[in-house]
Amino acid sequence: MLKQQPLIIAHRGAKGEAPENTLAAFKLGMDQGCDAIELDIHLTSDRHIVVIHDATVDRTSTGSGEVQAMTLAELKKLDTGIWFSEAFAGEEIPTLAEVLELVPPKIMINIEMKGTPGETGLVQVLVDLLREKQRIDSVVVSSFDHAALYKLKELEPSLRIGLLYMKERLSPADVKREALAEIFSLHPHREWITPEYVAEALEQGWILYPWTVNEEDQLREMLSAGVAGMITDYPGRLRRMLDHA
Ligand code: G3P
Ligand code: CA
Repeated sequence: MLKQQPLIIAHRGAKGEAPENTLAAFKLGMDQGCDAIELDIHLTSDRHIVVIHDATVDRTSTGSGEVQAMTLAELKKLDTGIWFSEAFAGEEIPTLAEVLELVPPKIMINIEMKGTPGETGLVQVLVDLLREKQRIDSVVVSSFDHAALYKLKELEPSLRIGLLYMKERLSPADVKREALAEIFSLHPHREWITPEYVAEALEQGWILYPWTVNEEDQLREMLSAGVAGMITDYPGRLRRMLDHA
């Protein structure tokens, strides 16, 4: 066994084997032994937080249109399982509140804010929901919109935030210069990771959760580089590897 095992973070649930961002995918990730779940959120026109990746429902449901232009009742009529497989027919687009009911606090949830969260009001609605459900301490909120993360941190200083970025967009030293708020984690694309990069990040005080790490050779590469966790479509695959390490 490895001394300190990295967190297994199920990307959009166990996205490789179930329809992404559904309760079925989150349940499967937990059954496969994940430590954490990554998911994506948008705000509906009537200000509910729903769990879906794209700005529209077209790719992952039986409907069409922009999430932010639809009410929760309209979204709930759509099937978000059948596009993946008939075995998942009947899956609904979940609200974040429903996911918080399903997933116990011991499983960390990495909530990724999509769209323009600072402008839509998503940031405030998210803080209110996490306070109501007493889940401030069991989540990490990430986004490519760093200004929105800093706003979130101002509203609720004890929330953990993680910066998402693409390859070559940020080095940990750049983050140190950029940071206006306390950052918990960095979420770079996996191609950016080397042992030197991990060491540089740790020196600046941040841990790394790279994405999306799926193939066995990639998983092994991240393990030997020493990352704190991996965002993967196949949490069961990583669990088996760690159990035999
Ligand atoms: O949070 C990491 C990863 O999920 C970011 O990319 O497109 O899968 O949301 P995407
Ligand atoms: Ca995501």
